[in-house]
Amino acid sequence: MNTSTGDIALLYSEIEKFSISSPDDLENFRLKFLVKKGIIPSLLSEIKNIAPENRRDYGESVNKLKTLAESKFKTAGEEIINKQSVASDTLLDLSLPGPEMPLGSIHPVTLIRNRIIEIFSHIGFTVSYGPEIEDDWHNFTALNMGENHPARDMQDTFFIQKNPDILLRTHTSNVQIRVMENQKPPIRTLSPGRTFRNEAISARAHCMFHQVEGLYIDEGVSFSDLKQTLQYFVHEMFGKEISMRLRASYFPFTEPSAEVDITCLICKSKGCNVCKHSGWVEIMGAGMVDPAVLENGKIDSEKFTGFAFGMGIERIAMLKYQINDLRLFQENDLRFLRQWVGG
Ligand code: DAH
Repeated sequence: MNTSTGDIALLYSEIEKFSISSPDDLENFRLKFLVKKGIIPSLLSEIKNIAPENRRDYGESVNKLKTLAESKFKTAGEEIINKQSVASDTLLDLSLPGPEMPLGSIHPVTLIRNRIIEIFSHIGFTVSYGPEIEDDWHNFTALNMGENHPARDMQDTFFIQKNPDILLRTHTSNVQIRVMENQKPPIRTLSPGRTFRNEAISARAHCMFHQVEGLYIDEGVSFSDLKQTLQYFVHEMFGKEISMRLRASYFPFTEPSAEVDITCLICKSKGCNVCKHSGWVEIMGAGMVDPAVLENGKIDSEKFTGFAFGMGIERIAMLKYQINDLRLFQENDLRFLRQWVGG
């Protein structure tokens, strides 16, 4: 190609007249004149074909063209940006609500734990915590679970390798012993926390779950105090229309022991799968603290009596919110958790 100065003059006026009023125009301009294979870089690369005596003039004119195209591109680009922001300013309606922010939610296990603590705090219960990694004494022996008790079976307990004395606590009852060792009656305390059992994970069982333990020790604490306290809890947690019953049971650390049932919330006691058509569902274990357990906690069992209870937080949440699969509590599926936004 042999480009004459006349051609360059024509291009000069083409650039001047090129109308740029939109981002598309701007891009077309850039593609035509400025990109590597566009007109101006092509003209520049042609300089080697120009006769030596004309090179200087040629170079000067192409450089002028280049300066013109670059400054036009810059100015037109700035104008387009300004125009756009003016346009969006005029559209801005300050009375419109702001953009929606996604809200987090409190986990149902936390909601129920907090509610249990709140209910018992109204009748003087404090909160105590204990270790999740526990020794045999606090998890088993001090709670009257002799060496051959089935609850110690390897099936249920996660032991820490190399030291069978150290394990992941299988229940929050370990905190009973720790509180007794460190406090003098009257003791009125709740111990929420994580518990671990070597269970296959299914809709009804999990290897990690949450419990709340309750402990009340003073002079003259009786079984009727236990019953009254649990009755109060059931009414506060589930509503006054829900009834409670105690069923005789056995736990190594309480005597007498009971399991606590409430009328089935799902079918209103008409009979359903959850209550196995009995009209009742179990919510916790309870009983009078065995005198031997008091003594293990260094409390004078001649002077003091007490009651204890333990419940699974997931169990209460399942009944309260009608959740039918224990795994949902651990999976952190947002579709599940979002149901408690604002809860
Ligand atoms: N520790 C028992 C369990 O994990 C629950 C329990 C039952 C706790 C009776 C108690 C109690 O304090 O008195 O199944």
